[in-house]
Amino acid sequence: MRLLVTGGAGFIGTNFLRYALARDEVERLVTVDLLTYAGNYANLNDLEADPRFRFVRADIADREAMTALVDAEAIDTLVNCAAETHVDRSIADHWPFVTTNVDGTLVLLEAVRGRAGFRRFLQVSTDEVFGSIPAGRATEDWPSRPSSPYAASKAAADGFVQAYATTYGLPAVITRSSNNYGPYQFPEKLIPLFVTNALDGQPLPLYGDGLNERDWIHVEDHCAALWHVLGLPATRGEVFNVSAGREVPNRAVTDLILRLLDRPPSLVRYVADRPGHDRRYALDASRLRKTGWEPRRGFEEGLAATVAWYREHRPWWEAVKSGAYRDYYETMYGDRLRDSSAAPRS
Ligand code: NAD
Ligand code: TYD
Repeated sequence: MRLLVTGGAGFIGTNFLRYALARDEVERLVTVDLLTYAGNYANLNDLEADPRFRFVRADIADREAMTALVDAEAIDTLVNCAAETHVDRSIADHWPFVTTNVDGTLVLLEAVRGRAGFRRFLQVSTDEVFGSIPAGRATEDWPSRPSSPYAASKAAADGFVQAYATTYGLPAVITRSSNNYGPYQFPEKLIPLFVTNALDGQPLPLYGDGLNERDWIHVEDHCAALWHVLGLPATRGEVFNVSAGREVPNRAVTDLILRLLDRPPSLVRYVADRPGHDRRYALDASRLRKTGWEPRRGFEEGLAATVAWYREHRPWWEAVKSGAYRDYYETMYGDRLRDSSAAPRS
């Protein structure tokens, strides 16, 4: 396999590179990453020793660079992890989401379309394209009803992947995973933000009433699912949901983190809600399970391991939380925390 993984310096990309490099089938592994605020080259330092590995700093929306790279490296498999990924940032400014998530995906699709020997395009997508799931679990056939600009950009990209599969016969597949947690996640997302804030005795800003639910999966289970999907017979834009089937209200996640770190509940601050905040995500992953994949990590055990990782990797997240992150935090949370309460918002 001559594999191109985009976004390898991000959370899921970094974990997936490690997963793939542990496999003998991988003859070459190239990762492209623009190193935006969310990309961290330090994550990849230890991979450089592997002669199969190469890092390229580039923008997936750069047509010439992507076409030249795919040709030069004779890429036969592409896993697209690069994206702008944070819902709150997409509410503040959606343009980078359109450029990277939509244009960038199209550029990658064009770079591999019609390539002799090209085997598989895997689009790493999200359950957020479905919007809020009021009850039950969404199967792959659930309609796309994205709520945030982030989710809308991912739904648009999925549409282009399916169009390329249908119109040009591109061997493509889409995975839609639920919320991931684990090592190397940027501390703007709920779990690493709350764990690192709690470690520093800082407030934990819970949105709204704190009862929104997310369907949590450990990033290693997601990486195993991506690898598994690469081995399934070629599909024409088929979708596979990826979920461990465990939705948890944000308040319960917060309580668990506080308990694991032995920090007081008084750190919790209820702050103004996110506009358009999806109430609940819950996926039905039986299509993927029937092909032989299953998640291995339970939420409580996985969360404890994740909390331990952040506790042991303080230099990693302290570096990430310095500099521009401080401005981001003040913009997102400054006023909200000044206007926060210890009791849930109705
Ligand atoms: P992340 O924000 O941690 O990492 C994204 C990476 O993409 C960063 O390294 C960044 O530098 C890179 N990048 C951004 N714009 C780029 C560009 N124009 N060109 C090249 N590289 C660029 O994100 P993540 O959590 O690792 O998510 C990876 C993928 O998985 C995304 O497509 C996301 O939609 C999807 N996903 C994530 C989750 C989750 O819970 N994290 C769940 C489901 C699906
Ligand atoms: P997040 O990690 O941003 O993932 P997503 O919104 O893409 O699912 O948020 C997970 C949940 O946690 C979501 O319901 C919003 C909530 N949340 C907070 O309550 N406070 C926060 O500071 C953040 C970042 C998220």
